[in-house]
Amino acid sequence: MNFHVLTLFPDMILSGLETSITGRAILAGTISLEAVNIRDYTVNKHKKVDDYPYGGGAGMLMQAQPVYDAWEDVEKKIHQRRSIAADESLDGQSDEAKKTRVIYLTPQGTTFHQRMAKELAKEEDLIFLCGHYEGIDERVLQEIVTDYVSIGDYVLTGGELPAMVMIDAIARMVPGVLSNQESGETESFSNYLLEYPQYSRPEVWREQKVPDFLLSGDHKKIEEWCSEQSLEKTRQLRPELYEKWAVENQEYFDKKAKREERQRKKLLKQLKKQTQI
Ligand code: ADE
Repeated sequence: MNFHVLTLFPDMILSGLETSITGRAILAGTISLEAVNIRDYTVNKHKKVDDYPYGGGAGMLMQAQPVYDAWEDVEKKIHQRRSIAADESLDGQSDEAKKTRVIYLTPQGTTFHQRMAKELAKEEDLIFLCGHYEGIDERVLQEIVTDYVSIGDYVLTGGELPAMVMIDAIARMVPGVLSNQESGETESFSNYLLEYPQYSRPEVWREQKVPDFLLSGDHKKIEEWCSEQSLEKTRQLRPELYEKWAVENQEYFDKKAKREERQRKKLLKQLKKQTQI
């Protein structure tokens, strides 16, 4: 999967993402990352990329020309690469004609979520457009943007951090990026639930003991305990996610009720036996 970021601050993107897990994936070639400096495309002799907005208003706007030319260059290269790949492939098929999705980071966009990350991870290429100052001339947005995305209801100084957040979340859904492919699926939000609490050595730290269940060695019991913890944590911290999960997983509660009923009956039987003696 190939990420292309159109930005005025390419170093910010590269230094953030060429680190840790995404950095390892870039080195391994599982994903690629290119940060394109929009300023390199301005035709202004002073390298200016912004100007005052018509009609007045605070701040400056990024102009259409350098943004469009930077996008056009990236899109052309993607198509060239795809047509070479199509020529080389035996069946001659490729997504050559497909237009690459262009994501504009803006607080006015649709709020980013895990399902979106999973869906975007299926694309071969993604272009991210990072705005700065008061935004970008509307005409170029109309021309090239396919998705308007926000990472939350707050305003940041530019689109670079949101692009990095999105790329990190998308990259970890790309097969081979995480060392254990399972973890991408089972962790938080893959089914609305938060992760259960986890513990490592030592067994006792500042007089707090690791829950007995985790030390029991009984894998079925541990699994049950983890699910219960995960549900309880979600119910307390994110009740709206818990409700969604509960609606879609009614059978979990049915099974749990049956299990508890069996346990109650077993206990009752034991008690009766004891009183008979
Ligand atoms: N640019 C500025 N604030 C933003 C946000 N919250 N999400 C996406 N892009 C932004």
